[in-house]
Amino acid sequence: MSKPALCIFDTPQTLATAAAAEFAKLATSAVTERGRFSVALSGGSTPKALFALLAAAPYAHSLPWDKIHFFWGDERLVPPDNPGSNYYHANQILLSDVDVPAANVHRALGEGAPQEAVAAYTAELAAFAAADRRWPRFDLALMGLGSDGHTAALFPGPIPPEETSQPVISVSAEYEDRPAHRLSLTPLVFNDARHVLFLATGGGKAKAVSAVLQGSPAPEQWPAQRIQPSDGQTKWFLDPAAAALLK
Ligand code: 6PG
Repeated sequence: MSKPALCIFDTPQTLATAAAAEFAKLATSAVTERGRFSVALSGGSTPKALFALLAAAPYAHSLPWDKIHFFWGDERLVPPDNPGSNYYHANQILLSDVDVPAANVHRALGEGAPQEAVAAYTAELAAFAAADRRWPRFDLALMGLGSDGHTAALFPGPIPPEETSQPVISVSAEYEDRPAHRLSLTPLVFNDARHVLFLATGGGKAKAVSAVLQGSPAPEQWPAQRIQPSDGQTKWFLDPAAAALLK
């Protein structure tokens, strides 16, 4: 398990520019080596600047979009046309502006009942995975960080047993004004990824960044500590405000 690499960028925009270059590098090498690139997107607001850069030149016309497969690390259980949906924003900003085939967009069925959505997404992962696997080994897991240390929809509190046995779980959690009912990939899937990239900006994330990266192990209190790929590389892209409490 390699130590996370920390990269601090002057502004959220230069961070997004670097994240777009990282996405393009990983996508190009995955397609060259394995014929496709699979990515689990994070939700929230931080990745939106990244999505916008990927939807513009040079990436919009240069990436092998027909070989890129999009999943979501977590999704809010609302319809896909609801602004509370993580798919909604990724589609609005990126997917609707690039030539990615509809079959490559593996959205979670947020409009369904929680257990139906979990079962459908679990099946979607298995269908995309290699024959003997329950979930794919993602080439990239894009992760965000909440000010409370959550990532995807893994929130502070006792770790539910299903989180350590299932690839997809149903979660209810209050955070800001966001839809509470969600589904989330679990650390089983995230920690199997080849590359994990956390994006975090703003002073509101500083305490969580410091606790997750340099605090004592407390994965119930700081869920992002649960993301430690066994045979993958983790990078944290931060701005100075989010990195302010790092030693
Ligand atoms: C979600 C995200 C969540 C997000 C963090 C950070 O569905 O909300 O997947 O894990 O990454 O809450 O959100 P911001 O980028 O908006 O701060």
